[in-house]
Amino acid sequence: MRTKAYAAQAATTPFAPFEIDRRAPGQSDVAIDILFCGVCHSDLHTARGEWPGTRYPCVPGHEIVGRVAAVGGDVTKFRVGQYCEHGFVATYNGATTGVGENTYGGYSAHIVVDERFVLKVSHAETDLAAVAPLLCAGITTWSPLRKWGAGPGKKVGVVGIGGLGHMGVKLSHALGAHTAAFTTSPGKVAAARALGADEVIVSKNPDEMAAHANSFDFILNTVAAPHDLDPFIALLKRDGTMTVVGVPATPHPSPNVAGLIFGRRSLAGSLIGGIAETQEMLDFCAERGLVADVEMIAMREIDRAYGRMLKSDVKYRFVIDMATLQNAA
Ligand SMILES: NC(=O)c1ccc[n+]([C@@H]2O[C@H](COP(=O)([O-])OP(=O)(O)OC[C@H]3O[C@@H](n4cnc5c(N)ncnc54)[C@H](OP(=O)(O)O)[C@@H]3O)[C@@H](O)[C@H]2O)c1
Ligand SMILES: [Zn+2]
Repeated sequence: MRTKAYAAQAATTPFAPFEIDRRAPGQSDVAIDILFCGVCHSDLHTARGEWPGTRYPCVPGHEIVGRVAAVGGDVTKFRVGQYCEHGFVATYNGATTGVGENTYGGYSAHIVVDERFVLKVSHAETDLAAVAPLLCAGITTWSPLRKWGAGPGKKVGVVGIGGLGHMGVKLSHALGAHTAAFTTSPGKVAAARALGADEVIVSKNPDEMAAHANSFDFILNTVAAPHDLDPFIALLKRDGTMTVVGVPATPHPSPNVAGLIFGRRSLAGSLIGGIAETQEMLDFCAERGLVADVEMIAMREIDRAYGRMLKSDVKYRFVIDMATLQNAA
């Protein structure tokens, strides 16, 4: 099926309209009309060639919410008209079974997905745009928060209050942990409290950092740029862990191993999350009315949105209203 999309043709060219071919739905496929797509910093890293291996034309977007338009004969979990999200299995820039083609993501009008990668949304219909970011920003923070036991009696820090970080603060708070937000932006202090942070620490201020030495059970670091990890490792208690999820274009400076050795601290990483735990997170959020804080944009505003993301100027996730793709020039 010919499908309208928006693509980057090269690392340095702006996005422009582009037509892609979606496969006809197979027996186990679900065809989805895309309503909303969140804008992840990974879209920017990929489209601008900041990570190795981008295949062009590149159609990013993996925070996809839509309505089921058609289902294959073997599909049992979904029916036409339901709201659903599409999980990440190299949603874009991945290899397909076809020859020489790459996968295209959610900056497009429709997508065809095997039902195993489709999730049910039970939020209110009016929340659907703000649900889209749960699919990456939500699960990428939920998975490590659960794995490292965020909950009552635990002191949890979230570093970088962007798309991922703001969901990290909301989810850690909802799980019952004492939650601290670390930001480089003094202008986000009040807003971070409103997200559910019990304390907000401006990480550029050494005195504020020192007041929390040796006190955190767990720190989730979502920063998208290379930075010194040592000041955060120093805030972990004995046996505490800092998990990084940000993937900057160039590496962080290597941490000082003494910071890990004294206190038997750990540095770890985490990648998005599985389908079952993504559904668990969506259901948890639906029960508690949790969604992302979003700023809606039209498709043609995507390059400007990337520019603002690079300046940490988004509260806290851009979401594309896919209805605007029809008239995008
Ligand atoms: N591991 C995974 O599975 C996974 C999944 C999705 C995304 N990611 C990666 O996670 C990272 C964050 O994604 P995102 O969409 O949340 O990005 P984002 O919305 O741009 O947020 C990143 C935040 O990091 C902070 N920051 C930015 N530059 C900084 C600097 N130079 N020094 C210190 N802090 C800085 C800012 O927060 P403050 O203003 O509060 O300081 C910014 O808002 C990206 O690298 C993305 O590719 C990984
Ligand atoms: Zn993402």
